Parts: sequence; C-alpha cells; structure tokens
Amino acid sequence: MIKIATPVVLLSALFLSMAPRAAAEAAAPRGWDDRPTELYRLCTSCHGPDGKGMENVGAPAIAGLPEWYIEAQLTKFNQSVRGGHVKDINGMRMRPVGLTLSEANRKTLAKFVSSMARPVTPDTVKGNLAKGENTYQVCQACHGAKAEGMQAVNAPPLVGANDWYLLTQLKNFKGRVRGYDPAIDPNGYAMAGIAATLDEAAMLNVVSYINSFKSAPAAQ
Ligand code: HEC
Ligand code: HEC
Repeated sequence: MIKIATPVVLLSALFLSMAPRAAAEAAAPRGWDDRPTELYRLCTSCHGPDGKGMENVGAPAIAGLPEWYIEAQLTKFNQSVRGGHVKDINGMRMRPVGLTLSEANRKTLAKFVSSMARPVTPDTVKGNLAKGENTYQVCQACHGAKAEGMQAVNAPPLVGANDWYLLTQLKNFKGRVRGYDPAIDPNGYAMAGIAATLDEAAMLNVVSYINSFKSAPAAQ
C-alpha cells in the first residue's frame, strides 16, 4: 500500500510546490495597467530611468525599440520562452520581471518604452568592417539594409543597439540558449539557425559593421 502511494504523494507534493509560483505569476501589479510611469519603475534598476541600459548587469538599451518587438519579448520572458535556459545568465535576470507582468502591463510598457528616445550607444567592439559588410548581406533580408528592422518578418532593428548586447545574443542564439524551441519560439529558432553559421570573428565583424549604421558619432 505504502509503496504504491509514495509516487502519488511525491507527485502531489510537486504540484503543490508549483502552485504558489503560478499564483505569484498571476498576481501582477494590479491596477497599474494604465499607469506606465509606475510600471516602468520595475525596470529602472537595470535599464535605467531613461532606458539606456546598464552593461554591468547585461541589460541593454530598450528605449525607442518598436512597440511590437518589446511586447513580443516581454511575452517571451513572461512565458519563459526566453530567459528559461540554465545557461542564459542575463536572460535569467530579466525573466523574473517578465513573469510578474500581465498582458495589459506588457502592452502598456511596450507603448511607453517605445515612446522613449533611442539613446546613442557607445562603440565597444572592433572588427573587420569589410568582412562584416560581407556577412551582413545575409542579415539584410530580415533586418533591413541599414539594420532598421522589418516587422513583416518579426526582425527587430539592430542599429543603435549596444554592440556588446548584440554579440551576447548572437552567442546565445548559436548556443541555442535563446531560440532553442521551434514549437514555442519559431522566430528565435529561425534566427538561431543563422547565428549557427557565424564563428566568433564573424560575429565581431558583423556587429562592427552594424555600428557603422549609426548616424550619430560614437560617444566615447
Ligand atoms: C534585474 C534586472 C532587470 C530588470 C529589473 C528589468 N530587466 Fe529587462 N533585461 C534585463 C537583462 C539582463 C536583459 C538582457 C537579457 C538577455 O541578454 O537575453 C533584459 C532584456 C530586456 C528586453 C529585451 C531587449 C531586446 O532587444 O530583445 C526587454 C524588451 C526588456 N528587458 C524590458 C524590460 C522592462 C519593460 C522592464 C520593466 C518591467 C525590465 N526589462 C526590467 C534585465 C532587467
Ligand atoms: C530569416 C530572417 C533573419 C535573418 C536572415 C537574420 N535575422 Fe536576426 N533576427 C530575426 C528575428 C525574427 C529576430 C527576433 C527573434 C526573437 O523574436 O527573439 C532576430 C533577432 C536578432 C538579434 C537579437 C536582437 C535583440 O534585440 O535582442 C540579433 C543580434 C540578430 N538578429 C542579428 C542578426 C545578424 C547579425 C544576422 C545576419 C548574420 C541576422 N540577424 C539575420 C530574423 C533574422
């Protein structure tokens, strides 16, 4: 009797231990749906008050990204499609925040963050521009000729992003730390297939080339 009952007890213990987390996820900051400035306070410790990002915590500039892209990414963090891989150190900082956001919160935040001025990010990587230009031929089909992004294929702008962040993402995609599951993240999976073709030097070169699209001179 006891032997048969044990797995059942273990299983129900497992479900019980999961239940409080599910409840916590549902308990998003209620009543804040239409209060973007209050909601954005959840973001400032890592992305800064103006959405410029903070390299020491791996948080990129998010201000001025397209609304559709911000919402899609917040939803991925909320559903653990992104930031759920054990090797995704930076993604794991962002995911707990995503878990607390309701759909309405995510929409409000996406609109608000998108309306913030896109910051000028400093150039921190140096690669071979000519080689980077060559590699970028592959990217422009989705990210656009000047890395301005293309909503029709869900590809975000890359111009103006922190170069260190772009590098991390290419490595994450290649290592299938981001975009690892075609069933739940087809867009990330498609991108991961492209990153898989790049070695580290090619990543450096292409990110340097993307830096060259910035209209403003590098802040240094
Ligand atoms: C504890 C630190 C932390 C907090 C707080 C935080 N983030 Fe993040 N966020 C990060 C990190 C780190 C990343 C980069 C994850 C990666 O490398 O994949 C990130 C990534 C993102 C991205 C993806 C950007 C892209 O180009 O794909 C968005 C969008 C974002 N955060 C929005 C927010 C919003 C909105 C809030 C507030 C509700 C917030 N974050 C709060 C740390 C944080
Ligand atoms: C088939 C279309 C396609 C091609 C080609 C492509 N990408 Fe992407 N890329 C995407 C999509 C879609 C995403 C968004 C993935 C997601 O939703 O997580 C993305 C995301 C990215 C990101 C993450 C941006 C962020 O803010 O987190 C980087 C970096 C990137 N791509 C670089 C490149 C580079 C460099 C190339 C060329 C070598 C390239 N991509 C080619 C579709 C593409």
